[in-house]
Amino acid sequence: MPSRTLGHPLIWLDSTTSTMDEVGAREPGAREGLTVAADQQTGGRGRLGRSWFDQPGGSLLFSTLLRPHCPPEEFQLFPLAAGLAVAEAVWTLLGVDCRLKWPNDLLIDDQKIAGVLVTSKLVNGAIASAIVGIGVNVVAAPRVNGVDGTALQDHTDQLVDRRLLLDRILTSLGVVYRALADGHRTWIVEEWMARAVWLDQLVSISGLQGEKQGRYRGIDETGRLLLEIGTDRVDAISVGDVSRGIRPAKLFATK
Ligand code: BTN
Repeated sequence: MPSRTLGHPLIWLDSTTSTMDEVGAREPGAREGLTVAADQQTGGRGRLGRSWFDQPGGSLLFSTLLRPHCPPEEFQLFPLAAGLAVAEAVWTLLGVDCRLKWPNDLLIDDQKIAGVLVTSKLVNGAIASAIVGIGVNVVAAPRVNGVDGTALQDHTDQLVDRRLLLDRILTSLGVVYRALADGHRTWIVEEWMARAVWLDQLVSISGLQGEKQGRYRGIDETGRLLLEIGTDRVDAISVGDVSRGIRPAKLFATK
């Protein structure tokens, strides 16, 4: 797959419920690379069933159709690779340094600037298609779940052009997608870790099995977070939210 095929064809809508819905509806028979962007979403979705908010025209909101050939376990690294691609694009286009918060949030000064959502359709144990959806706060940063976000335009003197940003992200996305297909997972992990926030710090993870606390040691080649708990245990965590530090109550409880 040449990387330039991502973003072709490109449909840009004024408003939709979610660009994930738009690509999903066109998926049967559509070619890899189909991309739908919108100025506004009325039902934008985030990870773990959350909503994704925007102000009309204030964000870059798009979804792209993929038809990966790798096994599902290898594709698990792709959502993280997509976050890396956005960070790389923002750096290349604007010289703005975004950091990666596991699994695929982009932060500037610890505030969220962008998020990535990936859905996959499995047929007989293989991935028939996947949709990667990316939302970037360009000029407006909606407050989400009581937490402030930040907007890209606040971090650069250059006028941020959403079409140029889309183009640059699609190019970077093509690079990481190709790297994954070619088996360069170690490279993706290294590049990702080079931009990660809170590495080697104490963190809390709220996930499917409740909350875990420990020292954040990185990610493995399937994108799982490696959490060192005590001296001889490292848990690999697939799903959850990471926050910096551990709760004082736990600190006192930990021997
Ligand atoms: C997250 O941080 O939880 C992921 C957010 C992903 C948002 C984007 S915006 C474009 C696409 N359409 C959606 O409804 N969601 C993704």
